Formats: sequence, C-alpha cells, structure tokens
Amino acid sequence: MESPASVIAAPAASDTKRILIVDDELSVREILAEGLEVFGYETHMAGNADEAEATLREARFHLMLTDIEMPGRNGIDLMNSARRKFPDLDVVMVTGVVDAKTAIQAIRQGASDYVTKPFNLEEVQIVIDRTFEKRRLVAENRAYQEHLEDIVEQRTKELVVKNNQVEGLYADLQESYESSLQALVTALDFRDNETQGHSYRVVEYAVMVAETMGLAEPDLTWIRRGAILHDVGKIGVPDAILKKPGKLDPEEWDEMRRHPEMGYRMLQHIRFLEPALDIVMSHQERYDGSGYPRGLVGDAIPLGARIFAVVDTFDAMTSDRPYRKALTIDDARNEIGEWSGRQFDPRVADAFLSLPAAAWSEVRERVHREVAALHEQVKKVIG
Ligand SMILES: [Fe+2]
Repeated sequence: MESPASVIAAPAASDTKRILIVDDELSVREILAEGLEVFGYETHMAGNADEAEATLREARFHLMLTDIEMPGRNGIDLMNSARRKFPDLDVVMVTGVVDAKTAIQAIRQGASDYVTKPFNLEEVQIVIDRTFEKRRLVAENRAYQEHLEDIVEQRTKELVVKNNQVEGLYADLQESYESSLQALVTALDFRDNETQGHSYRVVEYAVMVAETMGLAEPDLTWIRRGAILHDVGKIGVPDAILKKPGKLDPEEWDEMRRHPEMGYRMLQHIRFLEPALDIVMSHQERYDGSGYPRGLVGDAIPLGARIFAVVDTFDAMTSDRPYRKALTIDDARNEIGEWSGRQFDPRVADAFLSLPAAAWSEVRERVHREVAALHEQVKKVIG
C-alpha cells in the first residue's frame, strides 16, 4: 500500500474517498489505515514528507492526514507545499497534546482540522467526516452559484432577443406613422398645387436650423412631424378660398386664419403627434405678437414654431407664385435678416443665417427630385 506503483495499479471507485496517512511511526500509520478502511475509506501511507509528495503526484487524494512532528520536513511544511500543488486537497493535522499551539497555527495556514494524540478512531472519523461535509457544502454552493450565473446569462440573452424584437416593432410602427403622415401631406400637396413640395422642404429646412441651434432627438422628430403637418388644417379651407387667384377679402381671410386651430383639433387626440402639435397650432405666430391665432409674443411661442416660421417664410419667398417670381436665396436671406427681432426670433434668424446659401439650394434641389418621383408614383397608381 505504501509504494506509489501500487497506488496507480489500484484506482479507487469513484465515490470512495482516498486518504493519505503520513506519519513517521509505522504503528500509528497502520492503526489509522486499518481503522479508516473499516469506515469505508481507501487509505495509502507515507513515512515522511518526501514520500507523501511522491504519492500525491501519482494519484488524486481527497484528504491527507499528517503528523506534525516528523524527521526531515515537518507536517506544516508538507501541508503548505502540497496545498500549493493541490488546492482542493484537505489536510487534517495529527499532533501531540503539547503541540496544540502548532496545530492551531496549522489551521491558520490552511489545515481543515486537527486531532490530538492519543486519538481514538471514532474521533478521527468524526473529524474526517466533518471535513468532507464542509468540502461538499462548499462545492454545492459553488455549483449553485454557477447555476445561478447560467440562469442569469440565459435570461439576459432572452431579454436581449426580446428587446431587439420590441425595437424592431417600434421601428416598424414609427415607419407606419411616417408613411401615414406622408400620405396625408401628399394628398394635401396635390390639392394645393401652388405649394408642391413645400411641406417636404420646410421639414428639411427646419431640421437644419434646429440642429444648428443644438437641438437633438427626440426634439428633431417633433419638429419634423410638426413641420410636415403644419398646414394640415387647410383641408378644412374651401377650394374657393384656398385656390382663389386674387386677394382674399376680410371674411375669406378669417376663414383662412382658422387653419392652425383646425389642424390642431384634427390631430389633438393622436398621442404620438402630441409634441408636434406646437408647430401646427403656432406656426403662424410672429415674434412681435402680430401673428395668429393667439397673437403670442417672443418665447411664449414654442421654439419649434419659431424655427418653423423662419423656414416657412424663406420657402415661400424662394418659390414662384402666379402673381410674383421667386426671390433668389441671397435676397430671401437678406429679408430674414431684415425681419429678425420683429417677425422672427433673432436667435433663430442668426442660426438660419449662419448656414450658407449653398446649403439651402442643395436641399431644395434634392427635395424637388424626391417629390417629383413621389408624384410620378402616385399618378401611376391613380392613373
Ligand atoms: Fe400655415
């Protein structure tokens, strides 16, 4: 039983605990070995530290029961080097009564427990069982922790998948919203030929100014939606007024001036449009209070509507009308500068003017191409 070769030749059954007994006294080793075999352990013996280490290298042991006082390297020294190589090896020290201090020292350094000589075998068995039980609980706890980590990891993965699905649905929903709005605005544009592409241009222009002023999402989305819908209330304005070639009389003007509120009332119950309604309701207000429908002054006009007022006027000035030719972009910019602080919020006018003429003409041409293609499609569908 003591030679390493015999250890390799006799592998233990998987659930039998293997114990290495180290003591320089043969009789002590034998008593322990025989006793512990009776309790169902598989035991191996070594007469000194070197022999013990050699045996540990040959096979896997669950526990080492070692004497402290031995010729050559002592039991504590053996424990330290063995535990460095085999961190899962439990070590129980065997010590003389006078040696109790050393035994406690050994526990501080990593021994699982100790028994004092003279021992009785039941006591040794209790100490060994307790050590194995502690080891089992630690392993069980570790397995539980790992299982918990697996569960958390699994749940996290599921959550990521769910989250991606929700994000996908949300994007689809947003897209549906946007296309519904576009359909509405295209219908409006068809009716009001004079302003073709106007709604799309002011969307782009308003976002350009808003970004220049440092606005970010979700404000940009509200501005985009408000801008595209600003004149939706004109659906309620009769053709005779909307398409009248000459000047409107005062009564017709009253009718025309109702379109912001009309638009607001049309959309007020659509929750996803709520923040965009500022522009619908207030896009005809003027910074100096001379606008409509409420005659709001200065910062009382929502910022989106103040931005919108500038780009709306700019787009009107740079578009042909039956009764006048379009202004050049440069002339229109000068006009905006001219009315800054009166019709327009000066901060918005400054942001607008900080963008070069080329930026506006580039957007104008792009939107023109896009709207032409869109109208071509619609014509094909409705013949
Ligand atoms: Fe309007």
